[in-house]
Amino acid sequence: MGSMAEQNDHQVAFGIDIGGSGIKGAPVDLATGEFAADRLRIPTPDKSTPEAVVEVLAELVGSFDLPDDAPIGVAFPAPLDHGVVRFIANLHKSWKGVDLPALVREATGHEVVAVNDADAAGVGEDRYGAAAGKDGVVLMATLGTGIGSALLVDGVLVPNTELGHLEIDGHDAETKASEAARDREDLSWEKWAKRLQRYFSTVEMLLSPDLIVVGGGVSKHHKKFLPLLDLRAEIVPATLRNRAGIVGAASLAARPH
Ligand code: BGC
Repeated sequence: MGSMAEQNDHQVAFGIDIGGSGIKGAPVDLATGEFAADRLRIPTPDKSTPEAVVEVLAELVGSFDLPDDAPIGVAFPAPLDHGVVRFIANLHKSWKGVDLPALVREATGHEVVAVNDADAAGVGEDRYGAAAGKDGVVLMATLGTGIGSALLVDGVLVPNTELGHLEIDGHDAETKASEAARDREDLSWEKWAKRLQRYFSTVEMLLSPDLIVVGGGVSKHHKKFLPLLDLRAEIVPATLRNRAGIVGAASLAARPH
């Protein structure tokens, strides 16, 4: 549990969100959850190896005038066991086994915390966005290239839930219900909503969340598909949208719990 002293130590932390197509970063004002300067985006290298990606991270960090003691939070699209990549679905396979915070610390000289991208987004929404002030079981699902998940209980994160990889009807769920699947198969909103219904009903049966927050770029079109879903839990769009990963990672870097 971060002490109050720790919380007050930092006013700004730097957040980085590593995605399949872009690597984005911005300093975050921790009092408000707003960006303290405009976000910068650099395309993810085609061959997204650890060396190539860390070079981009160093360039991103170097483009801002950060205080030396500002911690860096990195959101990464795979489960991380205390910073170490366990397996990877959507970036170069050579990431497996890499200690991400150690690598970024060495490249930038800053203190670094690294977390799963959906966990970062969930914490962002919980501390500053759609789930702020909500107790109970909150589930965040990010619909993008894959499906990311974050589970929070009274604001405490249960890390690395990986619910995008639930096996449903014999398939890895994210291959059927992600935004990438909608795009790939050119599904209508109605057809995609049927798949989301199957997905969220399964998650709801397993975890009984009080609130489900839906993020990812497609959440800006939430009016097209959220009203088509019939669930017991309240289901709402993310409010930080594509800022959530950066904001959540930065916030976790300054206040891990
Ligand atoms: C990965 C998760 C990640 C999600 C969204 C999944 O394929 O296994 O760790 O959170 O994609 O990027």
